[in-house]
Amino acid sequence: MSRKKADLIILNASEMLTLAGGEVPRREVAMSDLGVVSGGALAVKGSRIEAAGSSREILDSWHSKQAIDASGCVVMPGFVDPHTHPVFAGSRENEFEMRIRGKTYEEIAAAGGGILNSVARLRATPTEALYASARARLDLFLEYGTTTVEAKSGYGLSVDDEMRSLQVLKDLARSHPVEIAPTLLGAHKVPPEFAGRRKEYVSLVAGVMIPIAAKTNLAEYCDVFCERGAFTVSESRTILKAAKNAGLGIRIHADQFSASGGSKLAAELGAASADHLEAVSAAGIRMLAGSGAVAVLLPGSSFFLDQSRFAPARKLIEAGVPVALATDFNPGSSMTHSMQIILTLACLRLKMTPAEAITAATINAAAAIGRHDRIGSIEAGKKADIIILSVPNHRYIPYHFGGNHVRTVIKKGKVVIRR
Ligand code: NIG
Ligand code: FE
Repeated sequence: MSRKKADLIILNASEMLTLAGGEVPRREVAMSDLGVVSGGALAVKGSRIEAAGSSREILDSWHSKQAIDASGCVVMPGFVDPHTHPVFAGSRENEFEMRIRGKTYEEIAAAGGGILNSVARLRATPTEALYASARARLDLFLEYGTTTVEAKSGYGLSVDDEMRSLQVLKDLARSHPVEIAPTLLGAHKVPPEFAGRRKEYVSLVAGVMIPIAAKTNLAEYCDVFCERGAFTVSESRTILKAAKNAGLGIRIHADQFSASGGSKLAAELGAASADHLEAVSAAGIRMLAGSGAVAVLLPGSSFFLDQSRFAPARKLIEAGVPVALATDFNPGSSMTHSMQIILTLACLRLKMTPAEAITAATINAAAAIGRHDRIGSIEAGKKADIIILSVPNHRYIPYHFGGNHVRTVIKKGKVVIRR
């Protein structure tokens, strides 16, 4: 029998988590089904997965000069991180210490720290330096098994500085293995020069930033921080409607500190995702369940801000809302690039099972950024974004926490990390 030639085959995984088939995004009990193949294998040609199955099936039909033996390892889709803020200058460990000494995140922000602290620094930083620091952050994402990120601007808050931030993301998307879904977050906070002129700033975002970002293809999505101290529901609606009209997808930082109505707005406007949701109300959950939005939960941020309240993941899952997980990587409220740490926090603090958390970090995360037909699972036809973890089974991933289980990362069929 003649076997077909692959560019790469991976064999003998103790567990291969395919996340294949079924309705996407996954809801309720379907979130628990990882499609585990023990002794799993797959064949890759070019950037694509050609076949996945048992090692016997793959070896019967495929041969390749490059074969990776994944004995004793878990093979799974690369992590998809659907909420990050990687374009910033400097860092905010001083605020970390202020919080330890008793100040809250919102108090620090009201005193001119927080987001505005990072805004001042970004504005004073040349684009090449922004590019270099964001690039180093993407390197870390990749090393920890994240092969695709959604990435926001939001520390520029002027037309030039927001477009500069998005341009950095565009340049990185061309030159770095990590794939990027770019998002305009011009409405992260009203900048100081617009104090007392909020309406004008909302018009600047809606009438200038959004049209430029859409026309120049610098952004795929538009996000708004809908929260007390940031933007009201009505301001958020104005901005997101303009984004929709300009052809951008929409996402919302919703109900983080208060049930401000962000989740309802997400449902009303047909957002791709409603993110945070620590304070979401029962009505908000019902509205999300009836919408197409994915709930992107960010336990790293609740943990890092030392909040007692975490997002009600169990209620969301029971109500039929598809749940995804993200790092929320940013210098203020979640300074981690590790989806592996996020899985542990999701299990312990959101009471998600390891299987649900892995679904939320792969196929559902891909759905949250509109890429579920290309990434997020191991099945023929999808991009070969694969990670090999030195762990005996999938439950071990969140269980042994704090390190990096990644042995090998493959992005679009190429081995990009070997440890
Ligand atoms: O998602 N909530 C708003 N934005 C970020 C925090 C940004 C910052 O503190 O710099 C978040 O948590
Ligand atoms: Fe965020």
